[in-house]
Amino acid sequence: MQKFIVEGGSRLRGELPLQGSKNSALPIMAATLLCHGECVLENCPRLTDIYSASRILNCLGCRCTFSDNTAAVDSLSVDRTAVPEELMREMRSSIIFMGAILGRAGECTVSVPGGCELGPRPIDMHIAALRKMGIEIHETCGGILCRASSGRARGAKLSLAFPSVGATENIILCAVTADGETVINNAAREPEICDLCSFLRACGAEISGDGESRIIINGKEKLHGCRYRIMSDRIVGATYLAMTAATRGEIILTNACVPEMEPFLSVFEQTGCSIYTGENKIYMRCGTRLKAIPDRIRTMPHPGFPTDAQAVLMAALITAEGTSVFEENIFDCRYRHTDALVKMGADIQVLGKVAIIRGVPKLHGANVEATDLRGGAAMVSAALAAEGASEIRQICHIDRGYEKMEEAVSRLGGKMLRIG
Ligand code: UD1
Repeated sequence: MQKFIVEGGSRLRGELPLQGSKNSALPIMAATLLCHGECVLENCPRLTDIYSASRILNCLGCRCTFSDNTAAVDSLSVDRTAVPEELMREMRSSIIFMGAILGRAGECTVSVPGGCELGPRPIDMHIAALRKMGIEIHETCGGILCRASSGRARGAKLSLAFPSVGATENIILCAVTADGETVINNAAREPEICDLCSFLRACGAEISGDGESRIIINGKEKLHGCRYRIMSDRIVGATYLAMTAATRGEIILTNACVPEMEPFLSVFEQTGCSIYTGENKIYMRCGTRLKAIPDRIRTMPHPGFPTDAQAVLMAALITAEGTSVFEENIFDCRYRHTDALVKMGADIQVLGKVAIIRGVPKLHGANVEATDLRGGAAMVSAALAAEGASEIRQICHIDRGYEKMEEAVSRLGGKMLRIG
């Protein structure tokens, strides 16, 4: 079992190129199944979740290869429609393969991805929408058997009860090759949805309205391959900004998606950090102790503050002057990192979906265990700001979403080692 050893106390300072977005790359990799030809994906992050997606593609008959941060997927010879249960279980987002396989073949067999570190993650909205698109779905002790009654999904008018990212992606993936028009009302508006749609358009799909609440898709018989650059990872960007703020450092993020990161930039400005942006670049400097955020930080679907950045922002605010309040509205179990932060000296009170953070002047190192991807990143951030050494175990969670975090932190002058 590998672990991180972090020696706190150094201000992070330097330039860092931002990695490609995991949450864009995963649905785009699934989407390559719809293309009869080769897709070349640039800026593809090298992460364990991405390798899980490539194993699913391989098992369906695709050829998937990597060279540095470029992935090539050839789906000409797709000849299977079933994903084995053990591959489905490797990552929760494997469920987006359901829409893509259906779009390609009109049938698929997958399994329930199960709960995860963030609590139960139902897929009722995915299933209900696909049924409306003419897909017969039978659920049998964990297995999900799907078949388009007429061999091909048909377009439908759909309204989501909640703008679920995964359900919106699954519907889009099934609809781009469906028969007729699909309308998704109350669709998710996250930038990663727009990235998926831009990729699909580059492959010949007809989609409009992405980034807004109503997405309209006109099904095409076939899509073709393309070369596409995946957007940069706004959540990883927010993480390195948070680490810089927590250590009162100075950073230039390059390869950054500046407009998509605006919601974080305004929050860090409120804490007293100075921020300047240029084309694909963000400069941030934090000379003094951060100030608490006066307004409650409510996680909401885009364009609200993202749940994925809640933990890393919290890690920066635990040493701010004053009290900050978080309200987590997307997932039930998204404060599991707080126990580790408290072990490092933070003053955090969790009351249901609210967390009250009373800023403390300093933290101390501790031995902790990553509970989930972003929670683990928050622990690294707190460890960098703390006095003394910390040991962080269960870093497999962190590796799901951060490319060699220890190298990025070391490049910025932080003291962080991977052991084991
Ligand atoms: C995606 C992101 C994840 C992010 C989340 C919210 C990827 C790979 N993951 O996850 O990092 O935290 O969006 O921005 O892109 N729900 C239901 N029924 C459903 C579907 C969802 O009740 O059928 C609920 C979930 O339990 C959750 C909420 O809706 O409480 C949001 O989930 P959703 O937007 O679907 O998140 P994911 O796509 O799983």
